[in-house]
Amino acid sequence: MMLTEFFATCTTGLEWVTAQELTALGAEVTDTSRSRVFFRAGWEAIYRLHLYARTVNRFFVLLARAQVRSLKEIEEVAWQVPYEQWFDNRHAFAIRSERDGTHEFTSMDIARVVGQVVCDRFIARTGQRPPVNLDNPDVEIFSTLADDQYLLGLNLTGSSLHRRPWRQSLAHLTALRPTLAAAVVMASGWDHRPLIDPMCGTGTLLIEGALWRRGISPLRGREEWAFRVLIPHDEGRWQEELQACEHVCGHSPPLRGSDWNARYVEIARQNAEGAGVTDIEFAVANALTLPPPEQPVVLVTNPPYGVRMGKPSELVHLYRKLWQKWGAEYGGSRIVVISGNPAFEQFAPVEPTACYEFLQADLPCRLLIWDLP
Ligand SMILES: C[S@@+](CC[C@H](N)C(=O)[O-])C[C@H]1O[C@@H](n2cnc3c(N)ncnc32)[C@H](O)[C@@H]1O
Repeated sequence: MMLTEFFATCTTGLEWVTAQELTALGAEVTDTSRSRVFFRAGWEAIYRLHLYARTVNRFFVLLARAQVRSLKEIEEVAWQVPYEQWFDNRHAFAIRSERDGTHEFTSMDIARVVGQVVCDRFIARTGQRPPVNLDNPDVEIFSTLADDQYLLGLNLTGSSLHRRPWRQSLAHLTALRPTLAAAVVMASGWDHRPLIDPMCGTGTLLIEGALWRRGISPLRGREEWAFRVLIPHDEGRWQEELQACEHVCGHSPPLRGSDWNARYVEIARQNAEGAGVTDIEFAVANALTLPPPEQPVVLVTNPPYGVRMGKPSELVHLYRKLWQKWGAEYGGSRIVVISGNPAFEQFAPVEPTACYEFLQADLPCRLLIWDLP
């Protein structure tokens, strides 16, 4: 089978989780860089990856990756790419250009040069050029220059996969991106123990956990798939994959979530229903007065950080009380916390088992894991 080079975009800092996930799904991971995982796979693997890779925002065909020093060199790199093998001239395209570092040209200059190369190469090979449509293209080519590292990718996905079809995304000011939530649950070491989130908001961590452990695609019901206009696309094969993902047979340990805000809990229930994981137990409750668990659990949560939610002085009080409670009642449990506020860690009774740094939007955060004796 012929393998193609692809890359996936994901949460900055948690590339290793995505690399493990893609490997488990059969991809041959070759490299990672900031917020990207590079891999090889057959074309048809892309269908399964789109449906089951939970931590990925977008997939791209790797068109070019090179070290460049000038706009001229970018033009030369772009000229080598066989665009006409990926899409035909009935489809409108757009170049999306990003640039980071000090250069004598702008990202607009790059977009103009690469756009011209695409048209010229089409004319040279097919006699006709595809139309350009910046507002609503059929095909998007991402051009990224970071210092001297240049990357050209063909967007296979369309809009980001973090937009889960079942999710009311504007319902909570600080709701997690589902692709980050999935990465956190996968990195948490969740085993046979129940998974609980005592500050669950709209339920993102629990829903992604339930979908993952039961082998359910988080993208069922999505209609936008950019790869469908590309030349290698096989609609019959894709329809088979879509049908296969309707059969679900996996099981997971029990899942429970609570939040003191009744509106969020209601949205969490609706999201879970939309995702097809209706047996997660949700309740309205204060995390500080929940009854102790009957058995050791994996507690995974993202408490307010004080950036968009919660006043700093109240948060310190909340953090201290949470740790007093967890330290006294959660012996044998694993505590997994997304922390955007270092004050949280200072009250923990033991050293963390693991700590991973990552970016949430542009906010430096830590994924911390404690095993309580
Ligand atoms: C950062 S948000 C969690 C967002 C959630 N992970 C999601 O994706 O929707 C923190 C949540 O903690 C809740 N919260 C804060 N203090 C709480 C407390 N003492 N008891 C229960 N919930 C609390 C807030 O209502 C808020 O929904």
